[in-house]
This record gives sequence, structure tokens and C-alpha cells, in this order.
Amino acid sequence: MSQDVFGDFSAASLAGTDQEVEFIKAALNLPACSKILDLYCGYGRHAIELAKSGYAVTGVDNTADFLSIAKQKAAELEVSIDFCQCDMREIHFYNHFDAVINMFAAFGYFNDDENSAVMGAISRSLKPKGLFLIDLLNREWMQKNNLNRYWRHPNGESVVSTKVEIYEGLAMMKRQLINQVTGQKMETDFQLRTYSLAEMTELLSFHHLQIKKVYGAFDGRTYDEDTPRMIILAQKMNE
Ligand SMILES: C[S@@+](CC[C@H](N)C(=O)[O-])C[C@H]1O[C@@H](n2cnc3c(N)ncnc32)[C@H](O)[C@@H]1O
Repeated sequence: MSQDVFGDFSAASLAGTDQEVEFIKAALNLPACSKILDLYCGYGRHAIELAKSGYAVTGVDNTADFLSIAKQKAAELEVSIDFCQCDMREIHFYNHFDAVINMFAAFGYFNDDENSAVMGAISRSLKPKGLFLIDLLNREWMQKNNLNRYWRHPNGESVVSTKVEIYEGLAMMKRQLINQVTGQKMETDFQLRTYSLAEMTELLSFHHLQIKKVYGAFDGRTYDEDTPRMIILAQKMNE
């Protein structure tokens, strides 16, 4: 997710923000002033709305440009949010938050040991009985549907294509930008570990997080192999 030569993807993901925020509030069902960590908050689209609703929000991301957009927007709207620039492998909060949210497939960036260490840090950051809401792509759905896309870039001269292949749980995404006037080509590659529900159940439970509910989309429908997302609400149990 970035604002780069491929275009401003913030606009695309903003479309669903209102529904996502309503979903987050309903799923967590926490009293006002509860402490929420938005882990990998990007440019703050959820963090800001949650703070506007009266929650005490901390937003962590490692991309300085996203955080500066988030800070500017929060200042304009006069909402107070504790933003922090940090690599997700280096968060150190202990028994602090009532809830952690991890939105828009922002998990699975590393190898299995590092991904598990991130989950451990999430668990430690929660108070006992704290809630963890994680929004993942549904691997079964991804495997059944063609995710390759091709569209014209807003500059009018270029076309953008994305190609997604999944092999042994690893989703490999290749994005290409071809300028049809100059012939110039740019490519980026991105890999994301995707999880089945059984794998997530095991990973969460290893870190003392017990699944309470699994949703398939932000309209609240229940997860199955034909829903586009796998949105898990888990609760921290005694260690
Ligand atoms: C898919 S975006 C999701 C952002 C936000 N949750 C949303 O829904 O708009 C993933 C985010 O993870 C951040 N990120 C990527 N690698 C990171 C790392 N190693 N540590 C912390 N944040 C990272 C990126 O800067 C980006 O904002």
C-alpha cells in the first residue's frame, strides 16, 4: 500500500472505511475511552475515526510518509492520537490495551518465526481478556478466484497489471507499470504469508489468544471458504 508511481491506493481503500469502522466498533463493543492499538495504522483511516468516537487510540506504523498524513489529518480534525513510528517486530507494550486491531491484510510480511513473534508481541500488549481483531485475506477464496487485474493508470499513458500466485501458503504479488508511450516498464514484487483458519487458530492459541468469532466480510457475515476475507476476533486468555 503506497502512494507511488503506481497510483494513490489510499483512495481505493478509503471507499470501505466507514463500513469497516462501524464493524470494528460493533465487533469490539468496548466502552468509550478504552485503549485501542491500531497496529500498522497506515495513514490513520481507522485510528482517526475510532478516536473521533471517543477511544484512546495509539497508531503504529513504520512508514514515515503515512504517519505524517495521519498526524496532519488528526490535527485538522482536532483528535488526539498517540502515533508512533516503529517496525512491527519491535513493539514493546505490556498489558496495556483493551484491544488491538490489525486491518487490511497487515500481517504475514515475514518468515514464520518472525510472524509468530509479532503475534506474541500483540498478545503481550493486551490486558487480560483484551480483544484482538485481525482482518486477513481469505486464502481459500483467493485460490478459487482470479485475482489478476489490469487497468489504466490515471496519467492516461500507462497501464498497471497485478498478478497474484499462491504457493504453499505464500501469496506472491507482482505489479507492473508499463508506459505505452515511452515503453518504460517498472515492476514491484511483494510476498505475503496467507493462513487457513486452522493455521490461524493454532498461531493465536500458541500466544494465548482464543477465537471468539470469525467473520467473512465487513457486513458481518460469517466466514466460510467463499467469503473474501477472514476477520478474526480473539480474546487474550490467561497465560
Ligand atoms: C496494507 S497496509 C494497512 C494499513 C492500515 N491498517 C489500513 O487499513 O489502511 C499495511 C501497513 O503496514 C505498514 N508496514 C509495512 N511493513 C511494516 C513493518 N515492518 N513495521 C510496521 N509497519 C509496517 C505499512 O507502512 C502499511 O501502512
